[in-house]
Amino acid sequence: MNPGAPIGVFDSGVGGLTVLRTLIERLPHEHTVYLGDTARVPYGTRSGEVVTRYALLSARHLVSHDIKALVVACNTVSAHSLPALQEALPTIPVIGVIEPGAQTAAARTRGGTIAVLGTPSTIASGAYQAALGRLAPLARVVARACPLFVPLAEEGWTEGEVPRLVAERYLADLRRSGVDTAVLGCTHYPLLARTIAEALGREVAIVDSAEATAAALSTLLQARGLLRPPGGAVRHRTLCTDVPERFRTVAERFLGRPVESVELVDLAF
Ligand code: DGL
Repeated sequence: MNPGAPIGVFDSGVGGLTVLRTLIERLPHEHTVYLGDTARVPYGTRSGEVVTRYALLSARHLVSHDIKALVVACNTVSAHSLPALQEALPTIPVIGVIEPGAQTAAARTRGGTIAVLGTPSTIASGAYQAALGRLAPLARVVARACPLFVPLAEEGWTEGEVPRLVAERYLADLRRSGVDTAVLGCTHYPLLARTIAEALGREVAIVDSAEATAAALSTLLQARGLLRPPGGAVRHRTLCTDVPERFRTVAERFLGRPVESVELVDLAF
């Protein structure tokens, strides 16, 4: 494996850019290739079987870019498809976001209740609940699907009356149930972190798995001698499967910096 090869990162759409942003900050010398499957988004309302079928298409496409590692920057895919991806790509390390997020939540909780917020598909999979049951066996875990947070984040409606009312509707009862830690178990939710924190109560620790995922990737690359040495220009390629113009506009907000170009790719079935 070549340390100069790019890291592949994929998601159902723009959401995984919140993870890419943290990866780039933590590993500034690494080339990256990001693929957002905008032709098939959203994944969060689909069955695990269909999510895995779509995820394998994205992963295989990224392998054609000679990636040295694959980051599954989508909670829904991480919840359903990690074993299938690891089996399909036996020579490439594959990292998901759920285990790192659950580890951070387990380290943060002060013995109370951990809330897991995610898409309907992620919550139904029970993946976070299982990981937290292992990592924080004494904590109580409550899980809540918050599907409207995804379109709100994409629309840029992250603060103000509408997201506040939506967050209160989803989370008001959790506020009364002793939650001390909340896992943002969906790539879009970090954009609504402030609104979510207000709905849950300021004292609740908000856990975003991006930082922990970047740390896990850094450790893995180091252990395998795969860190790219500093020097030369660093390249970040961005690919999507439909409407690249809209992808680019929303991507700049998620990534927090300009996106030079978005390449359209076709993931053949
Ligand atoms: N990226 C998805 C996730 O983190 C959210 C968007 C979708 O439903 O596809 O679960």
